[in-house]
Amino acid sequence: MNYENINIIEDPELLINARKPEGKLGDELIEKMNINHECLARWSLKYLDISRSDAILDIGCGGGVNVDRFLKISDSKVYGLDYSKVACEKSALLNEDAICEGRCEIIQGSVSDLPFDDDSFDIATAFETVYFWPDFINDLAEVRRVLRDGGRLFIANEALPKQDDARQKELIELLDMNIYSKEQLEQSLHEAGFGNVVSYVKQSRDSFTGEDANWICVIAQK
Ligand SMILES: C[S@@+](CC[C@H](N)C(=O)[O-])C[C@H]1O[C@@H](n2cnc3c(N)ncnc32)[C@H](O)[C@@H]1O
Repeated sequence: MNYENINIIEDPELLINARKPEGKLGDELIEKMNINHECLARWSLKYLDISRSDAILDIGCGGGVNVDRFLKISDSKVYGLDYSKVACEKSALLNEDAICEGRCEIIQGSVSDLPFDDDSFDIATAFETVYFWPDFINDLAEVRRVLRDGGRLFIANEALPKQDDARQKELIELLDMNIYSKEQLEQSLHEAGFGNVVSYVKQSRDSFTGEDANWICVIAQK
């Protein structure tokens, strides 16, 4: 991992784009996230079995690195969705060849109103994005709707709540985000109708603050 880019909390105008990348700074932050989120993706995806026939949707796809990764693992079509225009443009550029071959689509849209039929996907993934979902339980239920029976939702976050942590508090206020505990994630997934909820936690490093953090990934089944 390239730690050159960490401590971007010192640059709030740039960091605010984590919620919804926009303009030149949004473009710049996506480049940084593509690098800084690589370790989280590699660690967390060890827990997700993906077969070559799995149809995959990456929600809050940002720069599209995970869409690119899934295209190498699955032979099925891979979709990326993000409500940010810049993120969709960057994702589409990165996955241009697969889009031309009809193997990939990048769609601008919100998790709250997914533009897909019921039972469309085997796997939905959400890397570093659930913090910003506006109506968490209903949004999880919306993701469940587009999953096939037995399909899985995979969530990976670089942050768990830290009591009395001034920098985390600053980050939450700046980005107007929700940092969920393991118990809150599991409870919310159950409330949204998911079962077989399994979580994994790892002590690591937060790429926003450069400080010790707990990473979490959660897998839940429809
Ligand atoms: C911190 S970035 C993470 C991007 C990428 N998943 C990664 O790991 O690098 C969060 C992304 O989620 C997207 N996002 C946030 N809320 C969303 C929503 N309600 N619907 C769709 N996308 C959303 C943002 O636009 C942004 O691209």
